[in-house]
Amino acid sequence: MFIAANWKMNLKKSDIKDFLYFLKKNDFSNKIKLCIFPQSIYLSYLIDLLENTSVLVGGQNCYYELSGPFTGEISPECLKDIGCNYVILGHSERRTHFKESSTHVKMCAETALKTSLTPIICVGESYEDRMNNEELNFIENQIYHSIPNIEENFYIAYEPIWSIGTGSIPTNNQIFKMHDHIKKIAFSILKKDIKVLYGGSVSPNNIDEILKVSNVDGVLIGGASLKIKDFLAIYGSVAKHVNNN
Ligand code: 13P
Repeated sequence: MFIAANWKMNLKKSDIKDFLYFLKKNDFSNKIKLCIFPQSIYLSYLIDLLENTSVLVGGQNCYYELSGPFTGEISPECLKDIGCNYVILGHSERRTHFKESSTHVKMCAETALKTSLTPIICVGESYEDRMNNEELNFIENQIYHSIPNIEENFYIAYEPIWSIGTGSIPTNNQIFKMHDHIKKIAFSILKKDIKVLYGGSVSPNNIDEILKVSNVDGVLIGGASLKIKDFLAIYGSVAKHVNNN
């Protein structure tokens, strides 16, 4: 089971220090992979604080070139160089606010894989697509254009846009159906099984319900990963789940 904490553009140095003080007291399970995605300027700071723990660190984004005249961009090679293991790509906030296309996401993912970073490629439909019963087609199209053709390891995160930061989440049936759809499409392209994370308003209140969905391989948490109490409550639920299964 994978727990990914996307801090987005939140938490200053002192907040991170406080968060880590409590996180380090947590009883970590070797059945759970935990990765935190801070703002890029604090990556090294977080990596240093997490030395000698099993907690991993990743970037929230990267570019599709390794180096060169691309002011403001982040090289996947440099993420790897400072000790990152994962990189989130194609988050709906990047697609919406920074106009990142699926083709762009795919190019970034292919370059990230070359540097041995593991991409977490985000997909998710809008409320309108869901209301028009277009969600399966939309996601299929997004996956075809976003995932690398190379047979490497990466994750897909299913994050319905209408669920991000809203408190409303899909039903377990809807999550199951979409994860099944995503796994089948990925298999048809790659001829291998892929792991799918669920993201969107994951909280201590709904995590137990989400974990009942058999094809959820982990969660990508936004808001609830910023508050140590909520985050540890979610971690505790996942730990209980993996121990019972
Ligand atoms: P929330 O958990 O705040 O809904 O954010 C989800 C998300 O976008 C994680 O990448």
